[in-house]
Amino acid sequence: MAVIRIRDTGTEIRGEDEVRTFLTANDVYYDHWDVEAKMPVHLQNKFVLTDAEKDEILAALNEDIQALSQKRGYVKWDVIALSDSTPNIEDMLKKFEQVHTHTEDEVRAIAAGSGIFVIKGKDGYFDVVLQAGDVISVPEGNPHFFTLTDERKVVAVRLFIDPAGWVAHPYADPAFQQA
Ligand SMILES: [Fe+2]
Repeated sequence: MAVIRIRDTGTEIRGEDEVRTFLTANDVYYDHWDVEAKMPVHLQNKFVLTDAEKDEILAALNEDIQALSQKRGYVKWDVIALSDSTPNIEDMLKKFEQVHTHTEDEVRAIAAGSGIFVIKGKDGYFDVVLQAGDVISVPEGNPHFFTLTDERKVVAVRLFIDPAGWVAHPYADPAFQQA
């Protein structure tokens, strides 16, 4: 279950209702899928995936993907896997860890492992630490970035309204402090 860390104060917010209330107040969509029951057992702890294995994950989570897409207008989805086995992971993370915006919302459903969204909220930046099953959408135009947790491995489903238009626009923010 997701945990919130407020950067300015170090305050943590835990518990599904509390997390949902905080994220809703900051216009961030949050949901939770039962991936433990649905993910194929042999892929629950695998972070280097073939295309066939990525398709297997999409098929396993298809019901949830379809429901979310119908509700929020996504037309395309894929699977991304990141770990220390990913070529050039250090360079990728350096690139990821820059505050930026997009012209559409950024959706991630964590299928295995964990990840962190750092998001500019109404009262400063906060981290959302996501575990398997957590689903989040950062609103269009809202400054944020995504990174790994200390376990350094994640498999996530990404959903898009317009994959061609999904480009990161750097957001220079003097108020942002690296943790
Ligand atoms: Fe992004």
